Formats: sequence, structure tokens, C-alpha cells
Amino acid sequence: MQADNQDVVFSGLRIFYTRHLCYNSVEKFNSLKTPKPCVSVSGDRRGCMDIKDMIIMVAMTAERVIGRRGHLPWNIPEDLALFRNMTLGHALIMGRRTFESIGKPLPGRTNIVVSRSMKPVAGVIVCRDFSQAVERAKRLKGKVFFIGGYEIYRQALPVAGRMSVSWIKKDYAGDCRFPDYDHEDWSVEEQRDYPEFVHVVYRRKCTDVSLSKGPFGKSRLSGHDV
Ligand SMILES: NC(=O)c1ccc[n+]([C@@H]2O[C@H](COP(=O)([O-])OP(=O)(O)OC[C@H]3O[C@@H](n4cnc5c(N)ncnc54)[C@H](OP(=O)(O)O)[C@@H]3O)[C@@H](O)[C@H]2O)c1
Repeated sequence: MQADNQDVVFSGLRIFYTRHLCYNSVEKFNSLKTPKPCVSVSGDRRGCMDIKDMIIMVAMTAERVIGRRGHLPWNIPEDLALFRNMTLGHALIMGRRTFESIGKPLPGRTNIVVSRSMKPVAGVIVCRDFSQAVERAKRLKGKVFFIGGYEIYRQALPVAGRMSVSWIKKDYAGDCRFPDYDHEDWSVEEQRDYPEFVHVVYRRKCTDVSLSKGPFGKSRLSGHDV
């Protein structure tokens, strides 16, 4: 009998914690029929971060050029300021080469570097694979920004819910491009014109049918090439 009562207490506690972890308002707590979207990197519902808070952040040309010889091919302070404002206080996930190109952890943000080879660095969380980095970032408060380069964007495209793209107006030569992706999976949420780039925030479509293309139309090139 006592064991039965303990079972009831423990299962009550289990339900409480299960609900408490995923529902942070009384209304949501009471409504188990409409769960908040909880997406993990494997696409299941174990994690509790909304995919809209997992954001790809990139600057690219119309031909999807993102880098040249390990660095950005351009120097656009206004875009760097936008990057800083949007990411301050949040977590950044980057590849080892992008970290090396930046040269130091970015202040005011949690810097997570994905690398199999990198030695520990002060101010940086090194994760040995992409999904470990995402799981680590999801345990932190705030949004998760995937800030490049190509290899990180490629792995982030299936899991991100937003893309913040600075479409650079001028053409630049480069040896590294943003991965090919289907523009029709994304719809425009915000768009703002700057002298040297157009900043567009895209949201992953769920059921809506609005078609979106970058301001320069669908990119023709694909892959990480030289
Ligand atoms: N325009 C933009 O917005 C923008 C933003 C960022 C970067 N970039 C440019 O992008 C270029 C760099 O891109 P990239 O693709 O060459 O390099 P990257 O993505 O920055 O880094 C690649 C490295 O990350 C690690 N990595 C990636 N996926 C991993 C996984 N699943 N497990 C373990 N380690 C993993 C590996 O490091 P190890 O080899 O140590 O294992 C790999 O060599 C540069 O030109 C940079 O300037 C442009």
C-alpha cells in the first residue's frame, strides 16, 4: 500500500517536471494538447528550444560567395555592427576555421567552436561534433546563432528556423560559398536596405505557400569550391 502511494507521488512528480521543463506559463502548463514545438538536432521533440531561435547568420554575394582564403572578402563595418547587435548576449556556433579567422572569442557572447583538432582556448567551448555543439547551446539562455563557415552552415540548414542574410550588393571573388539550398523552404520575414547590402530575415516555412527568393533571385552555383 505504502509502495503504491510512493508510486503515485513519484509519477506525479515526474509529470510535474516533464510539464515544467517544456511549458513556462500556466496556460501552456494546463494545455498538454498543444505542445510548444520542441526540436532537437535529430529532428525529434526531446529538446525544448523553438527552432525560430536557431538562426543562421551569414553575409553573402548574389553568387553565394562567403569567403576568400579563409577570410571575408569584404570589409563592411555596418554589417559587422548589425552582426554584433543581433548576436550580443546569445550563443554562437562556429567552425574551427571561422574561429581562427576571427582570431579570438567574441565578447558578450558564448563562443562554441566545433572542431576535432582544436586545443582548449580560454573563453571558448570546444565541441567535438556539431550535434554536441547544438545540444550545449540549447542548454543556455537566449538564441543560438550559426555563424559559419560553409561546413557549419551545411549542417545547420536542416535544423535552423531562421536565416539572417546580408546580401552583399557588389560582386566579390571567393573560394568558399554558402551551401546550395531551396529558397522555397523559406519566406521573407523582414527586409531592410543598407548602402552596401540588403538585410533579409527568412523564416522556415511550415504550411504557408508564399514563395521567396533572395533579392537577386535563385542562386545558380552550388558547393564549396575553389
Ligand atoms: N560571409 C560570412 O558570413 C562568413 C561567416 C563565417 C565564415 N565565413 C568564411 O567561411 C570560410 C570558412 O568556412 P569553412 O567551411 O572552410 O570552415 P568552418 O566551417 O569555419 O570550419 C571547418 C572546421 O570546423 C570543424 N567542424 C565542422 N563540422 C564539424 C563536425 N561535425 N565535427 C567536428 N568538427 C567539425 C572542423 O575542424 P577540425 O578540422 O579542427 O576538426 C572543420 O575543419 C572562411 O573563408 C570564412 O571567412 C564567412
